[in-house]
Amino acid sequence: MADLASIRQPVAREMREFQGCFKEAMRTSVPLLDHITRYIVKSRGKQMRPMLVYLSAQACGGSTDRSHVAATLIELLHTATLVHDDVVDRAETRRGFFSINALWKSKIAVLVGDYLLSRGLLISMEQDAVDLLRITSRAVESMSEGELLQIEKARRLDITEEVYFDIIRRKTASLIAACCAAGAASAGADEDRVEHMRAFGEAVGIAFQIKDDLLDFAPTSATGKPKGGDLKERKMTLPLIHTLQQQTGSRRRSMIRDIKRSADRPEVAARLLEDIQSGPGIAYAESKMAEHRDRAVAMLNALPESPARAALAELVEFTTSRKR
Ligand code: IPE
Ligand code: IPE
Ligand code: MG
Ligand code: MG
Repeated sequence: MADLASIRQPVAREMREFQGCFKEAMRTSVPLLDHITRYIVKSRGKQMRPMLVYLSAQACGGSTDRSHVAATLIELLHTATLVHDDVVDRAETRRGFFSINALWKSKIAVLVGDYLLSRGLLISMEQDAVDLLRITSRAVESMSEGELLQIEKARRLDITEEVYFDIIRRKTASLIAACCAAGAASAGADEDRVEHMRAFGEAVGIAFQIKDDLLDFAPTSATGKPKGGDLKERKMTLPLIHTLQQQTGSRRRSMIRDIKRSADRPEVAARLLEDIQSGPGIAYAESKMAEHRDRAVAMLNALPESPARAALAELVEFTTSRKR
């Protein structure tokens, strides 16, 4: 499996320049905010989204200054939603560091998320990038809908697979789709190509979130996020949905009872986790993830051969085999 450092090669210069753009984008004269945004810069993640922007641009004609605007805007939006997501999910860790809400409390985390969001919007206006703003604003709208749909539905213990896919398409795949569409648009690709890249990114994003949900159950992983957190928050993800669906009526009822009790009974939560790890849901989720991964890789055939296209294929592969 290729690692991110080698996948990044065709856009190594862009990714180096990106670090400066991202840091600059969050500059502020408010001391508390400055302190927190420095903390965010220090605890950076995999930066897969900027990588997708630049690789998509490169595979569709070549990256431009507008690719930097797109990558910065998207990483800002991504960071804002993570800061908010950790408040919503009551998560204490992120990227191996304490979450913003853990260190500064929810009040401040909500406002920091809003600040990052507003910086993204302003930068795209300042750079006259209305087309990029259109692509990304739609994604942000979908993400909010997805997170709310999840709160409304995913905690009901009878959520269907169809609803699960609707949720992850909105909350995660929409932004990854926007990366690829905005990258292509920044390279001057025509409408059809931009739409094709959006659809490619959506397939990648669905596979990406199934992997994220699998990692939450993995006995060993290096996500730097709380493990078993989804179960704790009663967030019904594919491994659990399928496991429940495969049980007999009485066994399903007893598992559902356990899910309800698990929040304040660590031993029940641990047993449940083991049941899911050894149940049919993991392999099933893996097979679904592979379907979307393969669909994404096949879509790359429509692009001319290039090192960036090859790197995109490797990035899709990484998405589904990663440990973090
Ligand atoms: C986490 O995304 C949020 C999800 C959509 C699951 P990443 O795993 O890309 O987060 P970082 O930026 O690398 O930390
Ligand atoms: C993805 O869902 C969150 C967003 C799209 C913001 P999760 O809640 O599973 O993401 P992590 O696992 O906390 O990163
Ligand atoms: Mg979360
Ligand atoms: Mg998760």
